[in-house]
Amino acid sequence: MFQNLLIDNNGPIRHIIINRESKLNALNKATLAELHTAIYDAFQNERIGGIIITGAGQKAFVAGADIAEFSSFSSAQGGELAREGHAKVFDLIENGSKPVIAAINGFALGGGLELALACHIRIAADTAKMGLPEVSLGLIPGYGGTQRLTRLVGKGKALEMILTADMITATEAHQYGLVNHVVTPDELLTKAEEIMNRILLRAPLAVASAITAVNASTQTGVNGFDIEVAEFAKCFDTEDFKEGVTAFMEKRKPLFKAK
Ligand code: COA
Repeated sequence: MFQNLLIDNNGPIRHIIINRESKLNALNKATLAELHTAIYDAFQNERIGGIIITGAGQKAFVAGADIAEFSSFSSAQGGELAREGHAKVFDLIENGSKPVIAAINGFALGGGLELALACHIRIAADTAKMGLPEVSLGLIPGYGGTQRLTRLVGKGKALEMILTADMITATEAHQYGLVNHVVTPDELLTKAEEIMNRILLRAPLAVASAITAVNASTQTGVNGFDIEVAEFAKCFDTEDFKEGVTAFMEKRKPLFKAK
């Protein structure tokens, strides 16, 4: 069905593998369009609880947006490229109702790091290298890098990474708080699945509400506390809330239905 992605299901976990290994999984237009479809479909699919995104092969997660494709773009075309990417892929992931984990298996550069930054949790192989090299091309990050990296690691580190265009190691990324865990390449998907499986034990609608409320903490013009109160209140109307507290009282494990 897809030309640039591989899809693999392990129970309720959907693996989306970006599969353009000869171009280090660079995000061309076709790949971004397929990513939109694959992510949207997984969010809609009742059998899927969460998504793990990784890159094909050992070398790259994603080495950026496809440089060849935008090399002759005008300002208007560049703006359109970024706007469409935000709406269809990067914001879609961040605002998703299901958890999305990036399993960073190699180079995560430019749009590749921005893809990982849009995910809710990042796990890196100890061989991974990360960076936002856009200023070395005469550009700046356009898929949310200046905003999401800054929120995650602070202005000082973000400016150092963006202005120098230098790559950092997985260990440095861990020290900066950019990635949640660093493991060996062999352990990468196991670790990502292990974390996803812990999330999938929890009440899905509460998980979705938690994502919405945490995201609100960094949205300008939005009072995150108000959003938290609204999402908290919403949870009381769910069957899963009743099941969660009943199971607690009865000293048994809850059986959640996403209702
Ligand atoms: N867009 C398009 N093609 C890309 C790409 C990108 N972002 N990143 C890598 N490729 C392609 C290369 O052009 C090359 O294709 P070719 O074999 O047809 O010439 C292939 O992937 C392999 O890359 P190569 O550069 O030969 O590998 P390397 O091991 O020497 O270097 C990198 C690896 C990641 C350091 C290097 O590919 C690189 O700097 N890529 C661009 C990173 C970047 O600036 N990203 C931000 C874009 S906004």
